[in-house]
Amino acid sequence: MGFRMFQGYVAQGCKADGDVIEMGVGMGGAGDPYSCFDTAVYIREKFLDKKIYACDCFKGLPYTEDCSFLKIGECFTFTAEEFIEAVKKEKLENIIVPVVGLFKDTLPSLSDKRFCFAYLDADLYQSTLVAVKFLISRMTIGGVMGFHDCESGSRCKGVIKVIREYMEPNPKYKLMNGNESTYQFFERIKE
Ligand SMILES: C[S@@+](CC[C@H](N)C(=O)[O-])C[C@H]1O[C@@H](n2cnc3c(N)ncnc32)[C@H](O)[C@@H]1O
Repeated sequence: MGFRMFQGYVAQGCKADGDVIEMGVGMGGAGDPYSCFDTAVYIREKFLDKKIYACDCFKGLPYTEDCSFLKIGECFTFTAEEFIEAVKKEKLENIIVPVVGLFKDTLPSLSDKRFCFAYLDADLYQSTLVAVKFLISRMTIGGVMGFHDCESGSRCKGVIKVIREYMEPNPKYKLMNGNESTYQFFERIKE
């Protein structure tokens, strides 16, 4: 999926109420068509009153699990300080809010927020599960949740497991694109 197509989902989600959240930020999108920096620029250019909550421990993968071959510390890219510096350099600190730490510890501080676009790129079952359980009731109608690493050949088997268990059977969400894509997007269609 190219940058334009991804940005189409961002644009669609941003029509709904609420803020944006990314879970598994790393460098903010290097080598990936999605970048929270691009979304922040989109928000700025369209004068949208939205924040991007950029959640990551910025230490690489925090767990290992049986369903994948991923190791603790894998995917380490930016430290929290490097990410915060990059946000400042791009002059996006009024839009991107770094949320540093393990999801299970940081998400309670966002419990009063509602989201129009969420992007999950945390690779692991446990991490994706925590994220989905948090977000599923907090996405607004018309809001879009996107997942990375969903294709059957992916090393991140836990991501598709969470999707099968929690997203596909949920009548409040509709899959927006093909279920064999690397990226899967779900729209919240019901209260
Ligand atoms: C594949 S990388 C993200 C890459 C990023 N989207 C990019 O394009 O640069 C996965 C990220 O998820 C983070 N992560 C995974 N599980 C986490 C958890 N439970 N809490 C906080 N961060 C987590 C890791 O630190 C890592 O940076």
